[in-house]
Amino acid sequence: MRTNDMHADVSEILLNEEQVKAIVADLGRQITEDYKGRNLVLVSILKGSVVFMADLMRAIDLPCSIDFMVVSSYGSGTESSGVVKIIKDLDMDLRGVDLLIVEDILDTGRTLASLIKILKMRNPNSIKICTFLDKPERRVSDIKADYVGAAIPDAFAVGYGLDYDEIYRNLPYVGVLKPEVYSK
Ligand code: IMP
Ligand code: MG
Repeated sequence: MRTNDMHADVSEILLNEEQVKAIVADLGRQITEDYKGRNLVLVSILKGSVVFMADLMRAIDLPCSIDFMVVSSYGSGTESSGVVKIIKDLDMDLRGVDLLIVEDILDTGRTLASLIKILKMRNPNSIKICTFLDKPERRVSDIKADYVGAAIPDAFAVGYGLDYDEIYRNLPYVGVLKPEVYSK
């Protein structure tokens, strides 16, 4: 059961606000360096990556566009399936675009693996992945992010965009959710 105090439902802080800021600034610097002279488009996968996207785009010192996608991976509870369904598609044509997918967390990798297959068929110039968090131990699909903010252990994380049952996205840090909150 969740309480009315978001902070009390967190057992451990994985990344505090200061660490989050430093990670995003560092990713922004790398992307700025790598995408000079390119046609950069940041695509945020809603809703989890919205907080990261908002910070990351301001850490990139280059002209770029943004777009958003909503996908559902036919999963329920805390695990995704392999089949991705596009609920809201991109507004733009991807031909000639250097696409950078912005994700909150790479877990099994199933969602991104099937999304990338779909996006590649639209002939962008390049596709890369920037994920704020990575749980490498959990990977099922053969997929690697090109930019990773931080690797975390296999625990259910919330905050900085990550939810459990749509709550906790607005926590300014990343924490581990107490198991009693999601186990009935
Ligand atoms: P994947 O297809 O298993 O890689 O699923 C990735 C998606 O699952 C993320 O975009 C999140 O929405 C969700 N997810 C995976 N792990 C966590 C977690 O620890 N906390 C919150 N959401 C998670
Ligand atoms: Mg989610």
